[in-house]
Amino acid sequence: MADVAQTAAAHRGQFLAQVVANRPLCRDHYLLTLQLAWFPPTHPGQFVQVACDGVSGEASAVEVDWPEGSLPRLSGQEIRKAVPLIRRPFSLAGRRDTARGVELDIIHRVVGIGTAWLAQRSCGDEVNLLGPLGNHFVPPPDGGIAVLVGGGVGIPPMIYLASRLAGTRAVVFSGATTRDLLPLTLTADAPVPTSASVEPLYNVDEFARHGIPAVISTDDGSYGFGGLITDALALYLDRYFADAPARQRVTIYTCGPEAMMKRVVEMAGQRGMESQVSVERAMACGMGTCQSCCIRVRKPDAAQPPLAGSDWCYRLACTDGPVFRGADLLW
Ligand SMILES: Cc1cc2nc3c(=O)[nH]c(=O)nc-3n(C[C@H](O)[C@H](O)[C@H](O)COP(=O)(O)OP(=O)(O)OC[C@H]3O[C@@H](n4cnc5c(N)ncnc54)[C@H](O)[C@@H]3O)c2cc1C
Ligand code: FES
Repeated sequence: MADVAQTAAAHRGQFLAQVVANRPLCRDHYLLTLQLAWFPPTHPGQFVQVACDGVSGEASAVEVDWPEGSLPRLSGQEIRKAVPLIRRPFSLAGRRDTARGVELDIIHRVVGIGTAWLAQRSCGDEVNLLGPLGNHFVPPPDGGIAVLVGGGVGIPPMIYLASRLAGTRAVVFSGATTRDLLPLTLTADAPVPTSASVEPLYNVDEFARHGIPAVISTDDGSYGFGGLITDALALYLDRYFADAPARQRVTIYTCGPEAMMKRVVEMAGQRGMESQVSVERAMACGMGTCQSCCIRVRKPDAAQPPLAGSDWCYRLACTDGPVFRGADLLW
């Protein structure tokens, strides 16, 4: 997946986008659609870094007294209001190439100052983006079966991936703690799943429009399977992919809370299935400079650098990832 990251780096840039929609999807989650005259090619799994303090940077400008020949005089009180000084990373949730240019979708959950700023953007506002960043999911081989597993803010990249899997054999698992925190459109006339069912249904618009069925779970049982998404996934895999030849055709794609992803990788390994994981480690620069997003991965050859003699090394989630082979991750 390294060559993919290099290609992304060659195309990435800073862009000024215009907000064309920013509508609430459920409690705390918004679907932000940005219009650009042009944006480099993108793939599911890639992300953008969004400047959440206004494109002019005025919100973070502070004037200090700096006499010539001495250090600036700082009282420690210059920044009175918390300001999101660094960009915030968001996975792409969709892309449409139209006659007017490119539309990018971002689904964001309000958790702090940056996402609160984003939630207040209205049509016509400008948003500064850096991207596209990182590598991306690799589609399953011909005749393969894709199982997409997204939890919480890991659901958005699965929506983009599903749009590229139309016409192939795929199924989506989406989990949230409760129905109010599910950033998906449940179709009104579709059958409502029972709390013990793991039968995929065409009841989620974002996936059904691409011919892909879904299993929804909520931890509190307020919609769909009642319990953890990983429990629903285990039941499904053992019911529908019981034999080894069927299992070998499955690739599991996952993004969400780290505990969920670890369990998904473990389950894939136990069943002889491939897995690809998008690790949304906390990031600062998003471009391989600050080293804040390190993750431990298995090395193919222990004798080779980095860390010659060791069977693992650190990789950067922002440039070597965010997508890694599940079997390579040591977390
Ligand atoms: C590659 C990548 C893709 C992402 N995609 C999405 C997405 O599609 N939708 C979405 O809503 N969010 C996504 N996130 C998380 C998002 O970047 C953070 O929620 C956001 O930066 C928070 O900014 P803030 O200023 O609102 O919150 P802050 O005030 O900076 O932080 C609020 C709280 O959120 C925690 N937090 C911040 N970043 C992370 C993180 N990466 N993991 C866990 N906790 C974190 C902080 O520790 C703090 O407790 C993604 C993160 C990464 C690294
Ligand atoms: S976020 Fe800076 S190196 Fe990855």
